[in-house]
Amino acid sequence: MQVTSGMVGQGFYNDNSAPQLSAISYVLSWLDDAFDQLVLDDQTATIGLVDFGCSEGANSVAVLKRLIVAVRKTSDLPIQTIHSDLPTNDFSELFLRLSPKEGGGYDDDNVFSATVGGSMFDQLLPPKSVHFATTFNAIGFLSKRPLEQLPGYILPNGPSKQRAVGQVTKAEEKVFAELAYSDLQDFAKARAAELVPGGKLLIQVFGAGDEFRTCDGLYDVLNDAVLEAVDQAMISQGDYDQYYQPVYFRTLKELTAPFEDPDSEVANLFTLERSEFYEVTVPFVQEYEKTGDIDVYAAAYTNFFRAFTEAVLRLNFANHPSLETLVEFVFDQSEKLVRQYPERYEFHYVAVAALLTRKADP
Ligand SMILES: C[S@@+](CC[C@H](N)C(=O)[O-])C[C@H]1O[C@@H](n2cnc3c(N)ncnc32)[C@H](O)[C@@H]1O
Repeated sequence: MQVTSGMVGQGFYNDNSAPQLSAISYVLSWLDDAFDQLVLDDQTATIGLVDFGCSEGANSVAVLKRLIVAVRKTSDLPIQTIHSDLPTNDFSELFLRLSPKEGGGYDDDNVFSATVGGSMFDQLLPPKSVHFATTFNAIGFLSKRPLEQLPGYILPNGPSKQRAVGQVTKAEEKVFAELAYSDLQDFAKARAAELVPGGKLLIQVFGAGDEFRTCDGLYDVLNDAVLEAVDQAMISQGDYDQYYQPVYFRTLKELTAPFEDPDSEVANLFTLERSEFYEVTVPFVQEYEKTGDIDVYAAAYTNFFRAFTEAVLRLNFANHPSLETLVEFVFDQSEKLVRQYPERYEFHYVAVAALLTRKADP
């Protein structure tokens, strides 16, 4: 089974990803002086900037705009911007955002945009063609489903301490943690091939800390909604057992380990410049604190996680005789639960990020 086909398209991800933009904005200043020390060789004709896991592009275009400003401090060479995601991603909104005729694009005649469909765990671009690569809120999506089923919960990281409905065994957790580690190595090896020596790589993703994990609350409510579908005999217990979201929430240590472990094959390819675990405020949570409007909060919260979980739900239940009814039921039920028990599904956006420099080959 495919891991995910992408986010909900037709503008839905763009419209419901303000929390991801908050998490991106926190680290964007890391890029501002990232080019200052980059020494371009005389042969350089084009500066390559790539964002992996771009989805529908609203956030991805914001990132590359900032990177273009950073490049233009020191270079007026042509810039090639590339937005990349899975081939099944809905790229149509992104194309509109990149089109000057539609009021999009980069306001710089010497910037040329392209998109590339493929898995970020593979090399997708020519050797030494990239000067800066980024990925935001994406590398937690695993490269495969390493277990046939995860009967105790719908996410490898398990339920929140607060909700504590369901469980993931230590043995199961280990399988996912190891896959997350090797995925990160594969991603880093692919980027190492594409980057020029001295090129930069910024990896940011939703995370897990001692107090908060970004999965808490939202996967609890999704789990409760899917269990409700079991109770109502819309799906069987066996269906529940095999359904899970193949997404892993890393600690900061898990993000940096492949670049620090002496035995790791990518430790020699990159220098770790800086890394951070952080929390950002979430616009729909802030709004709820201000207005107390539970209906608006429940709808915004549900649409936020629907945008990145619906495709996986659909793939898991692709053979269900009433798939549309099931999908609507799960998200209606989720919204209802958030409205009824907001304190049960408290949400915090924590993230981890690392800035790396490609070392020169020995
Ligand atoms: C939550 S979205 C993040 C979008 C955007 N970067 C942001 O921060 O708003 C995650 C994206 O990662 C993409 N993705 C998941 N697995 C991928 C893979 N193996 N290769 C490339 N993209 C992948 C999904 O299709 C989706 O568009």
